[in-house]
This record gives sequence, structure tokens and C-alpha cells, in this order.
Amino acid sequence: MSETPIPEEGQEAAQSLKHRHLLGLETYSADEISLILQTARQFRDVLDRPIKRVPTLRGVTVVNLFFEPSTRTRISFELAEKRLSADTVNFSASGSSVSKGETLKDTAQNIEAMKIDMVVLRHVSPGASHFLTKCVDAIVINAGDGAHEHPTQALLDMLTISDHCGELSGLNVSIIGDILHSRVARSNIHGLLTMGANVTICGPNPLLPLHLEGMSPNGRVRVTHRLDEALEGADVAMALRIQMERQGRNLFPSTREYHEQYGIKPEHLERYPNLRVMHPGPVNRGVELASEVVDHERAVILNQVTNGVAARMAVLYLLSGSSTTE
Ligand code: CP
Repeated sequence: MSETPIPEEGQEAAQSLKHRHLLGLETYSADEISLILQTARQFRDVLDRPIKRVPTLRGVTVVNLFFEPSTRTRISFELAEKRLSADTVNFSASGSSVSKGETLKDTAQNIEAMKIDMVVLRHVSPGASHFLTKCVDAIVINAGDGAHEHPTQALLDMLTISDHCGELSGLNVSIIGDILHSRVARSNIHGLLTMGANVTICGPNPLLPLHLEGMSPNGRVRVTHRLDEALEGADVAMALRIQMERQGRNLFPSTREYHEQYGIKPEHLERYPNLRVMHPGPVNRGVELASEVVDHERAVILNQVTNGVAARMAVLYLLSGSSTTE
């Protein structure tokens, strides 16, 4: 891979990550997460300029391999790559030879034979991006693998939380909803605990994982089934989408009853005046969040989306710097 000139504001970011790939936040240290967040802030300044482009990844080819639907992650990675002057190619399973039975391994190896440097992978199977590292030499970034991890979502979430609430250490973050099927919850729990935040999870029993103790070596997760217990004293409430597509059966009676018990409503914003509301999207209005809450000034959902481009620029830049393939 060609040498990667850093943006002039980013001299400190000349350090690199210990990891060659970003498969999840479970194994990333606080120093590595801090470096990514600090670098993302520098790239955010680039995104505020009239010309939002730096030559950092000129000559680097990135393939976005999406085997599952995506709006935010896919567009955000593509924009991040373009803002860094990388050459980008987009692949989606529909309309490809996957419909003729070609495997992930064969698809990726054929694309790599066209001389690429990095792969961004979204796939329905947990562990798909780890598997890909065994099949190709390219650097692999996990853009969501089944219910396992979605590390760049958690990075942009932590960037957004720190923008609104300051240092992550000591903050109280409550994650509410379908934790069991959520790669966003998993990555956030790993990342937030590593950064010293306190994490509470809240939802109906069938949507909570059985064994939370092993989720991070650095801390425990508090569990509650009562929304008010999760919101009392919380700096941030992160509502998660009910993932019908990953549920083999109905795990709660109805979305109306779910909203009554676990939906964040205007009354909660009145009761907890310092609470910020987040959601990774796509939002089911009237289920996880009342529509008025989605549009409320203390909902920072679109700030999360804006931060996604800078966070992904930081990840692409830092991982490319750690390449040993030159
Ligand atoms: N937050 C998130 O991953 O959204 P998409 O599925 O639209 O990429």
C-alpha cells in the first residue's frame, strides 16, 4: 500500500493502531479507542471546510461488500473513502453472482484478485469479517456481522456522547430495547466499559442476553426491566430498533405494548431534563421512540449520522497506516 500522508491537523494521529483489522471493539484498548476518537475530531474539521477532501488515501482501493441492507453505514463509508481520496467500489449481494451460489470466500478472493487494499464487510453471519481475514490479505473492517458487532457504529456513538456529555469515563449510558439481537449494543457495551462509562441495559426479559458478565473484562453491566430505572440518573438513553428480521418468533406481545412499557416518550424528556436520546437508526417511530422524541432537540440521532463519516475516516486512515503490505 502506498504511504499515507496524514492531514496537516493530524500530526498526533501518526501513531497507529495495534490491530491490523477492525472486527469488533472487544479487543480494542482504551488507548486505541481514544486515538480513533481524537483522529475523528480532526477529520471532522476537514468535513467543515468548503472542500471536504484530503489526499490521505490516494492510491488505496477500498471495496464495500454489503450482503445485508444498509443506508447509513454504506453511504457513510463511501463518503469517508471519497473524502480521503481512496478509490472505492461498491458491491451488493443482490444482482451479484452470490445469487448464483458463489460463497463469501470465493466472492472476496475474486475481488481481491483485482488488487484491492481494504474491504468493508456487512454480513448476516456473526464472525463473517473474522472469517474473511483468513481468506484475503486485504485489511478488513466489520460494518456489522449478524448480531455480533458493529464497531464503527459504537465509535460514532462514543464520539457523539463525548460531544454532548464530555469525558466518557463515569458517564451513565442506558441501552434500551432489543439487546439480544443487537450488534450495536454489543459493540457499545465493549467500547463504553473499556472507556470507563457505566452501562445499564433495559428491555423485556426475552430481548436481553442471558450471560452479560463475560461481555467485558473491565466491568459489569447493570440490568433492569423498568424503563424509569434505566432513565433515572442516565446521561444518555440509547434506544435500539426491535429487530424483527433476527427474531424467529414473537418475543413480546405487540409493538403497541412494547411502546407503552419501553418506548421513550415526551413525558420522559420532561421527567429527566438532562437526558440525551440516541438511536443508531433506522428508527421505528412510535415503537422505540415517540415521534416527538425523534424530532426533539435533545435527540442527537442526526449528530450520530454526521459523526459516522468522521469516525469511519479515522478508522480507514489509522488502519491503512498499520498496513504491512507495502
Ligand atoms: N446504523 C446502521 O447500521 O444503519 P444502516 O443499517 O442503515 O447501515
